[in-house]
Amino acid sequence: MYKISTSILSSNNLIDTIEKLNKSITDYIHLDVMDGHFVPNTKFSIEELKDILPHINKPIDIHLMVENPLPYIKAINNPNVKYITIHIEINQDINSLIDTIKSSGYKVCLAIKPNTNIEEIIPYIEKIDMVLIMSVEPGYGGQKFIPNSVERLKTIKKINKNILTEVDGGINNDTITYVKDYTDIIVSGSYIINNSNYNEAIINLKK
Ligand code: DX5
Ligand code: ZN
Repeated sequence: MYKISTSILSSNNLIDTIEKLNKSITDYIHLDVMDGHFVPNTKFSIEELKDILPHINKPIDIHLMVENPLPYIKAINNPNVKYITIHIEINQDINSLIDTIKSSGYKVCLAIKPNTNIEEIIPYIEKIDMVLIMSVEPGYGGQKFIPNSVERLKTIKKINKNILTEVDGGINNDTITYVKDYTDIIVSGSYIINNSNYNEAIINLKK
């Protein structure tokens, strides 16, 4: 059974949302970090990230939508952080970043945007724990799911049946039916956060 990772990107009261999620049945909390370069939006400076992490009691997956992840990786020091995700499209030494994430004690996830050739993952697949298929253009919550993400998830499982997959963007109680058989962690933001009862939304996603 897939796990649910709740993205707090669309929250307008972060501490309240985190407190509610800490008491909810979400499996992970998904933290989106954006630098205003890799994506147009900005969210969470390194200092803000360090302030937020101790408020979270759930396992955390951190999605670094940033051009230069190294200073973020170095600043993260929290036992609840399980996965650190970097993007394959950045102009950096991906192998070295993978090694740094691993040696810092975290699992490594490589994210790929909807229009990047899926085969670009192949050189790294043996070194990483998970692939994150972006099912929207990164940067904003509340966008519409891109249907060919399903094929991309299947392709990853064909390339390596043991690799974990995560899908992120536009997942709700309808679009989940397309991805659930090929995904180990499902990120959902606005569908959960905009529901007055988080657990009810999460249960709908687990049906
Ligand atoms: C998009 C982010 C996602 C987003 C998901 O760039 O990476 O994590 O917050 O939110 P929804 O579920 O609203 O698409
Ligand atoms: Zn994300």
